[in-house]
Amino acid sequence: MDVAGVVTATSAVAVAGEPPPFPVGTRVFGCIPGGALADAVAARASLLAPIPDGVSYVDAAATPLACLTVLQCLRRLQGHVGAGPDRIIPSLLVTAGAGGTGSFAVQLAKRVLRVPRVVTTVSGAKVAVATALGADEVIDYQTTPVRGALTGAHRVAAALDAVGSTISLLPTVTPGGAVVSIGGPLQAGELGPWLPAGVPLYLRVALALLCAPVAVAAAVAGVAWSSLLLESKGSELAQVAAWLADGSVVPLIDSVHDGLDGVHEAYGVLMAGHATGKVVVRVVAEGG
Ligand SMILES: NC(=O)c1ccc[n+]([C@@H]2O[C@H](COP(=O)([O-])OP(=O)(O)OC[C@H]3O[C@@H](n4cnc5c(N)ncnc54)[C@H](OP(=O)(O)O)[C@@H]3O)[C@@H](O)[C@H]2O)c1
Repeated sequence: MDVAGVVTATSAVAVAGEPPPFPVGTRVFGCIPGGALADAVAARASLLAPIPDGVSYVDAAATPLACLTVLQCLRRLQGHVGAGPDRIIPSLLVTAGAGGTGSFAVQLAKRVLRVPRVVTTVSGAKVAVATALGADEVIDYQTTPVRGALTGAHRVAAALDAVGSTISLLPTVTPGGAVVSIGGPLQAGELGPWLPAGVPLYLRVALALLCAPVAVAAAVAGVAWSSLLLESKGSELAQVAAWLADGSVVPLIDSVHDGLDGVHEAYGVLMAGHATGKVVVRVVAEGG
């Protein structure tokens, strides 16, 4: 879960494999395992990065999980279809471009990775939001079938699926292209960093069965498909921090909910499935 706050104490003993802790008083953010809805949390330094001056705790808290996830997706897609020394993705479809993750994907693709053609799907009221984030083409999925809009020469080289609709998206990707999904079934290999002791056999079988329909459909379509589960890394977050600092990436905030009393309300917004950007709980007032 995402956290942003100030370091109040550090371990007195060095932790094997961990970088030195950030000094007390450093403003830090990161994505940590377990819960983060608390006045104080324990976090490994390797999962954190300093919050740049001028970036608020709310913006910092909105960023790590979503931004790192889409960055890792886009890096993978660059590996599949990227061209030239900078591995530029020629064209990209992002589903749910005004959602928590999709809004970072559109911005990163357009402003950082310089994808020449970024297409995204949103519902009507969010078309202007996705356009402002930098999308070149915005499809209102409630009125326009995405498959119909992206056929023939209009197909894309790559897609990042944040909705879990990968099978229906496959015809929108040119054969030889690639899709990475974060909202659908997960391949067992993605659990490696989270289950260092190994993925149990029963779980491997269950995940393989869940993935089989999309894996088969992708193979038939000639498209490289994979799922991605975020691997949280402070070193990568330091790069994201630089993009926050220079304004290349600006978190899209749906709403901020104050105090632990606000948690129920925040989850209500999330569970409704139509957030415009990220939902943030401000557990402690800034400066408090
Ligand atoms: N694998 C990972 O590591 C990882 C990391 C982060 C998130 N995720 C997963 O990724 C998914 C998205 O997360 P999120 O934080 O972006 O969720 P979110 O912010 O709650 O996404 C909601 C957005 O989805 C849009 N949406 C819903 N149905 C849609 C459709 N059929 N087509 C296009 N847009 C649609 C909604 O827009 P409208 O109101 O316009 O419908 C809304 O903007 C979730 O399943 C989440 O669990 C996975």
